[in-house]
Amino acid sequence: MKIILLGPPGAGKGTQAELISNKLNIPHISTGDILREAISNKTPLGDQAKKIMDQGNLVSDEVILGIIKERLSEKDCKGGFLFDGFPRTIGQADGLKNLNIDINLVLEIKISDEIIITRMSGRRIHQASGRSYHIKYNPPRIEGKDDVTGEDLIQRNDDKPETVLARLEVYKKQTDPLIDYYLDIQKKTDLKFVKVNGANSPKEVSEEIFRSFENI
Ligand code: AP5
Ligand code: MG
Repeated sequence: MKIILLGPPGAGKGTQAELISNKLNIPHISTGDILREAISNKTPLGDQAKKIMDQGNLVSDEVILGIIKERLSEKDCKGGFLFDGFPRTIGQADGLKNLNIDINLVLEIKISDEIIITRMSGRRIHQASGRSYHIKYNPPRIEGKDDVTGEDLIQRNDDKPETVLARLEVYKKQTDPLIDYYLDIQKKTDLKFVKVNGANSPKEVSEEIFRSFENI
């Protein structure tokens, strides 16, 4: 299975990606997680991306496509993969198409702007794995600690309210057009496009997603 998860910041892409990746045993490829790792390792890519991400803007298509090509050349991607946060522009989607990769399923997680703001303010993440929690809606077993490693959870730099608003604007301008882009491909190929209601609980959202696998 080759899957793309689409949806605005805070829709629950990362949360659902972990569940899908465990269920289908395919790698979860989050460009956001890869960039945050580069920032924490202080690599040239990280230095370049930090300012852009802190402002809520997008890293260039060229850089992102380079990251994706490198990641897809790894062995674990042979049997499929799940993209979370990629592609995010028409340029990135065209770049992916040019790699001749047939995507089976595009999952759009739909959610309103009001819900996004509450989710971001309560989000905490485990930096090394990208696992995400919410202080109220999806709390870790021990406050402030990752369930798997017991390490500290942190707040993301770009989860400040003003940056969240900037990210939402960027999403509407640059990423939302991908919905029509993939709906159009659905008409011409075997690709399936499925919308799920991201306002439901994480469990309900994942059940809706898993049901959609039955028809692929
Ligand atoms: P990225 O890391 O991809 O961020 P994003 O798309 O803005 O999405 P988020 O990770 O904020 O939200 P999510 O949908 O994963 O939600 P989550 O599951 O965590 O990108 C960050 C930045 O990197 C970009 O701004 C850009 O600068 C750069 N970048 C990355 N990819 C790029 C690309 N391809 N091109 C260019 N630039 C790129 O959930 C959110 C919160 O809600 C959590 O607290 C969670 O516990 C909670 N929650 C989740 N589901 C539910 C639910 N159903 N009910 C209640 N609470 C829930
Ligand atoms: Mg995420």
